[in-house]
Amino acid sequence: MLNDLESVMFDEKALAKRVSELGQEISKDYKGKDVLMVGIMKGAVVFFSDLIRQVNLPLGIDFIIASSYGDGTESSGSVNIKKDLENDIKGKHVILVEDIIDSGITMKHLMEILWKREPASIRLCALLSKESRRQVPVKIDYCGFDVPDEFLVGYGLDYAEKYRNLPVIGVLKREIYM
Ligand code: IMP
Ligand code: MG
Repeated sequence: MLNDLESVMFDEKALAKRVSELGQEISKDYKGKDVLMVGIMKGAVVFFSDLIRQVNLPLGIDFIIASSYGDGTESSGSVNIKKDLENDIKGKHVILVEDIIDSGITMKHLMEILWKREPASIRLCALLSKESRRQVPVKIDYCGFDVPDEFLVGYGLDYAEKYRNLPVIGVLKREIYM
């Protein structure tokens, strides 16, 4: 799988360091609060499992599956919830954990849906952000790295459901998806 990468952008050490820093920030900010950390599947699964172990708080976890890119590399513009939360989030402090914010469309729709359920707060933690690709504004409260407009795979990020289990994040060779 590593042969399919043009280059490695973040190796295991860089990822672990940043995830630990984000975990410490969250631990500090939510001290004494009742927190629910929500992993947005499937892309955030690897980041989520590393991140929650760096948060030193009693917390709940839950998962949501929202549709995103399907098998391609461009956002479809519509979002539907394929698997909903098990928790009622009314009155809770929710931290959404996402792999990457690209156009921002998925997150904008998801936020709208979740705010209707009257949580006490919602903050967003995203490992990666492609700021230059944004079509709608999205506030990222905890951002791992801002990345250039390249198609990335690994550490949960896929292309056509492959590469999620790569321990690094890298740029996928163009010939693979062109
Ligand atoms: P958005 O709605 O355009 O912000 O799309 C966000 C979703 O698209 C993410 O949760 C990812 O699943 C997917 N995505 C965006 N950029 C990449 C990428 O470079 N590699 C893999 N998936 C990506
Ligand atoms: Mg995703």
